[in-house]
Amino acid sequence: MMLLLSKEDIRKVFTMKDAIEADKRAFRLLAEGKCNAPLRTNIQAPKHDGCFLFMPAYAEEMDTASLKVVNVFPHNVDNGLPALPAQVMLINGKTGVVEALMDGIYITQIRTGAASGAAFDLLAKKKCKIGALIGTGGQAAAQLEAMMAARSLDEVRVSGLHYERTQAFAERMQEELKDYGVRIVPVATSDEAIEDADLIITSTSSVTPVFDGTKVKKGATVSCIGSYQHHMQEMDPVILTRASKIYFDSEDAVLSEAGDILIPLEDGTVTREDFTGDIGNVVKGELAGRENDDEIIVFKSVGVAAQDLVTAKVIYDRAVAAGAGMEWN
Ligand SMILES: NC(=O)c1ccc[n+]([C@@H]2O[C@H](COP(=O)([O-])OP(=O)(O)OC[C@H]3O[C@@H](n4cnc5c(N)ncnc54)[C@H](O)[C@@H]3O)[C@@H](O)[C@H]2O)c1
Repeated sequence: MMLLLSKEDIRKVFTMKDAIEADKRAFRLLAEGKCNAPLRTNIQAPKHDGCFLFMPAYAEEMDTASLKVVNVFPHNVDNGLPALPAQVMLINGKTGVVEALMDGIYITQIRTGAASGAAFDLLAKKKCKIGALIGTGGQAAAQLEAMMAARSLDEVRVSGLHYERTQAFAERMQEELKDYGVRIVPVATSDEAIEDADLIITSTSSVTPVFDGTKVKKGATVSCIGSYQHHMQEMDPVILTRASKIYFDSEDAVLSEAGDILIPLEDGTVTREDFTGDIGNVVKGELAGRENDDEIIVFKSVGVAAQDLVTAKVIYDRAVAAGAGMEWN
């Protein structure tokens, strides 16, 4: 018997705070070498400008395996279909039986939001008042919620490519996230967004930096989740030279994919010695986190299958306990 879990089913049993804890466990597993997650398989489908991505993972300690299928089909948006359709398959590690199929678009959003949330939880100043979010696409809602879940903010400023879209996004989010009691303010430029911001997230598909790193204030924590290919760069490299510490979800994965780090490495703006390490080692207590309120700290993630695995497993256990979802024989 298999359980089918939609976004609504997941939302009933699993919160952003739960997702942050799940990601911390995932990052820890990764740092301990306890998650076997081979590099994702990428099969190109040039006929439709698409590609299929298969992301497997196995954690013996949790007796769980998972496979996320997330496909990139950019023309889908013309037909009202998601550009990145996705599902997560959860597999019982004792029996090999597939136990659940879950909305992978939502799991990706919440676990990617939670990566920023975990970084802020572990690395941000205790007192943060202003947040900034750059980008208003598919990941943005969960990114916004994650910063609110990690610190008790007064205001988050949002900026995007198109001001009307940014306004509409901010309005929708103000209603959806009203329980957090945070003002969500649309602004026209990223300069306005990051001025005085304690927490900054970039969540874009940009190929050029989307903010001015000289304008980030002391003590800020910056999470960049967007760039995952060599030509993609949303982070202003200046921020890497100003940062006291630079952490990754997985240094190996980031250095195999992300222009945000690869480009400044290649042009000599930073060297590998400037990198602090993986956030899982902070969770483990092996690596120091923030040491004072003036440090600028950068966190760069590209997403790792361990996040999908732990997130899906916690959701599944909760759903079974609550009788949520639809059973399929
Ligand atoms: N780190 C991870 O684990 C992870 C997980 C999922 C997605 N991603 C990546 O994060 C990025 C965002 O994902 P998404 O689903 O929101 O994508 P999306 O295509 O839905 O949205 C992209 C957003 O970027 C904005 N943008 C593009 N160029 C910009 C610029 N120069 N200035 C400001 N905004 C700009 C667009 O307006 C849009 O709002 C993508 O590159 C995606 O591949 C990372």
